[in-house]
Amino acid sequence: MKDSLTIKKIPCLDLKGQHEQIKNEIFEAFEKVYANTAFSGGPFVEEFENSFAKYCGTKYAVGVNNGTSALHLAMLALKIGVGDEVIVPANTFIATAWGVSYTGATPVFVDCDPLTWEIDVTKIEEKITPKTKAIIGVHLYGMPFDIDAIKAICTKYNLFLLEDAAQAQGARYKGVNVGGFGEMACFSFYPGKNLGACGEAGGIVTNNEFYNKHLHSLRNHGSTVRYYHDEIGYNMRMGGLEGASLSVKLKYLEDWNGRRRTIANRYQNEITNTKIKMQLQPDWADSIFHLFVVTVEDREHFINYLNTQNIFPGLHYPVPCHLQKAYAYLGYKAGDLPNAEYLANHCVSLPMYAELGDDEVRCVIDAINNF
Ligand SMILES: Cc1ncc(COP(=O)(O)O)c(C=O)c1O
Repeated sequence: MKDSLTIKKIPCLDLKGQHEQIKNEIFEAFEKVYANTAFSGGPFVEEFENSFAKYCGTKYAVGVNNGTSALHLAMLALKIGVGDEVIVPANTFIATAWGVSYTGATPVFVDCDPLTWEIDVTKIEEKITPKTKAIIGVHLYGMPFDIDAIKAICTKYNLFLLEDAAQAQGARYKGVNVGGFGEMACFSFYPGKNLGACGEAGGIVTNNEFYNKHLHSLRNHGSTVRYYHDEIGYNMRMGGLEGASLSVKLKYLEDWNGRRRTIANRYQNEITNTKIKMQLQPDWADSIFHLFVVTVEDREHFINYLNTQNIFPGLHYPVPCHLQKAYAYLGYKAGDLPNAEYLANHCVSLPMYAELGDDEVRCVIDAINNF
């Protein structure tokens, strides 16, 4: 921690501190990959898959090239395609919906709850039609969604449940690590995630042997025996260097998540400015605070003010999925999903990463309280 250092700019995320700490270990791991020329898939990916499945409490983990591919392959494994509909929260990163669209199916966006900012469970059933095949819940900003409530809807309508856990490696729902609650859970290991590779990577975890086998084949050109292709497949393997870096970092994840929880706790307790609203954290949710998002009425003024204090927050996400140009063909209009739209127009992501020093946290809190 950098408590005694002079405070300079405080960004929303800074990856340098983490990578300085573990540089030697990562480079040693890279040397092993290099010595084995195991660059695509192979033992270093398998080692990570085994330890990550164990960490999530699932039987299987399948490493892929990024979280978007994980969602795409999960949709394919569920046999979702043209003519099908999948329920997706409007307040999420757009990739949650991409996997649905890649298969030719239609994402059906649902508004978020005004307090938890996650999918509004009470608004799901009105969107279900005979074409609906699945619900994708998103553990948004690292906070688990209300899994039991959504599972109950899935059971009632015979729908698949998929967890988009891209932002939630190590988050717990009612004390249990996320990943094993639905048919599959998709993770991103993008470098900026709480568990991020040195490169692009993603993964799918599942307890289902059939999905596991199918996903292995799909990510590898639809093949289980070399040069024999059972179906149209993809090249979505995880790289060896990425797998090796993830195995190193997984050992630190609990500590890093713990530090984020401490910082979040301070923000929650010490930010007393009533202009700032925070995400409600229900009792059952143990967030890993991938992002610490707040809302404020006069966002532009707030951000400009923070910038004068050398604090540079982020925006996650400035346009809700249903109003993205890419989805104009679905015909949504402004006002359709008002809570998600409010979030998009008022959200601000405060600095959040494990290496943020106590003095920097103090600085952010004081600046916000003086706004
Ligand atoms: C909620 C969510 N879903 C999916 C993804 C896609 O992951 P990737 O960037 O690894 O493709 C992300 C990544 O930012 C995400 O935040």
